[in-house]
Amino acid sequence: MMNFELLSLSWAKAASLKTDGLVVLVADGQQHETGLLSTMLDQAQKTGDFSTAAGQCMVWWKPPGLAALRLVLVGIGQGRASDVRQGVAAGIGALKKSKAQTLTVLMQEAQTAHLVVAAQAAADASYVYTATKPSAKALSFKKITLGVPQAASLKERFELAKAQTAGVSLAREWGNRPANHATPEHLAQVAKSLAKHARVSCEVMGLKEVTKLGMGSFAAVAQASAQPLRFIVLKYKGAPEDHAPTVLVGKGITFDTGGISLKPGPGMDEMKFDMCGAASVLGTFEALAQLQPAINVVGLIVACENMPGGKALKPGDVVTSMSGQTIEILNTDAEGRLVLCDALTYAKRFKPSAVIDIATLTGACVIALGHLRSGLYATDESLASALLEAGERTLDLCWRMPLDDEYAEGLKSNFADVANVADRAAGSVTAAKFLQRFAKDFPWAHLDIAGTAWKSGAAKGATGRPVPALLSYLVNQPKASPVLQRLVATKRRTAKA
Ligand code: BES
Ligand code: MN
Ligand code: ZN
Repeated sequence: MMNFELLSLSWAKAASLKTDGLVVLVADGQQHETGLLSTMLDQAQKTGDFSTAAGQCMVWWKPPGLAALRLVLVGIGQGRASDVRQGVAAGIGALKKSKAQTLTVLMQEAQTAHLVVAAQAAADASYVYTATKPSAKALSFKKITLGVPQAASLKERFELAKAQTAGVSLAREWGNRPANHATPEHLAQVAKSLAKHARVSCEVMGLKEVTKLGMGSFAAVAQASAQPLRFIVLKYKGAPEDHAPTVLVGKGITFDTGGISLKPGPGMDEMKFDMCGAASVLGTFEALAQLQPAINVVGLIVACENMPGGKALKPGDVVTSMSGQTIEILNTDAEGRLVLCDALTYAKRFKPSAVIDIATLTGACVIALGHLRSGLYATDESLASALLEAGERTLDLCWRMPLDDEYAEGLKSNFADVANVADRAAGSVTAAKFLQRFAKDFPWAHLDIAGTAWKSGAAKGATGRPVPALLSYLVNQPKASPVLQRLVATKRRTAKA
């Protein structure tokens, strides 16, 4: 987790600031103060060595007259949130292979509206995965200072930024860990360690409890694995008991081989990321624990492996879900919906104001939306627009997808109440239609993050999405009233009994 600091800093003061790397964001036509830094900027622009186009960088080593060891001027174009994100990523990226340990990112007043985006970009650019690659440790920065004209007025936004970046880091970290280092039990341990924070509690169930609950669909997916399944229930209580909670449900398939409907070999390693929905729930809880907002949230994680073997589910098998509906499993690779449906049924007991499930559910969603926007399905208009807006605010984008009943036609079965797959057409939608059958009793949204939870290729790794959108949705709920928020703030440092 990156160590952040907020500091009041002018261009004049920045010249005498001791830091390993000073990253200065410059917008098109930006008015700036006089002084050495401004002179350098003017000259670099005049000679054409620097332009303010978003992401353009110019790097100095031991810039004469500055106390900073390294200086990076970086363009942020029109200064929109996405420009700031691009600029911060480029500016910090330019120093990533240096020996710099402390960085300072200098922003002007106009950019402080994008403080959270800037902090997230800084945290993302400096994240280094080391859990199973200790040799990468040398690359990491120790501290990032955000220099702004007036730190005092940005305190709250900065708290949100720190909480969000911590949540995203946790989600990235657990998303990235290989399946033999991120088993269902490991995820349960992470959840338990979150319960050390004030207002967070955690309960972990195994096969015995899950069977007793009647979760025959979830248990069936896990039945061929040597790793025992875990059903994780996290609670964050920041508001009185009678405030209906939001329930987050995370798909936690710690490895998806496809089961008997085995996936093809190439790229199968990426199915270690099939627990990124679960990781986003853990990450959101980390952020809630830090931020302590006046809301109630429940997190449900259904964690297991999807393996082939002598005990595995077979195509044609029929299982009974917790809801009582029977399911004909025509394809054992459509396992995400089989674990989620039982968690959705379980969610009803919390009388939730909304239930949001988050899942790397379908390859079809990647075909539909690519890697920019997560697929958003919702049975409630205000929930849909609140999530869409939260996504826009945080640049963690979503796109609304349809739920017409006609799409459920192909899920009919001669041998069970429902089949777990339809034909290939609109595969992300039919998966959502399957889930909808189990989400009739509350406002429900489903985020298909198959295209957004991780990157492939040279930058292979988890993104931590959609923690920013989820957190932003949660803390912007009308129920997170300022009065209650203050109440929680005063109790904030109360140690947990
Ligand atoms: N975890 C996968 C979805 C996935 C595939 C995400 C590729 C990202 C990249 C899911 O369990 C799955 O296998 N879905 C199947 C469903 C199909 C059998 C109806 C798919 O998308 O192929
Ligand atoms: Mn699958
Ligand atoms: Zn899967």
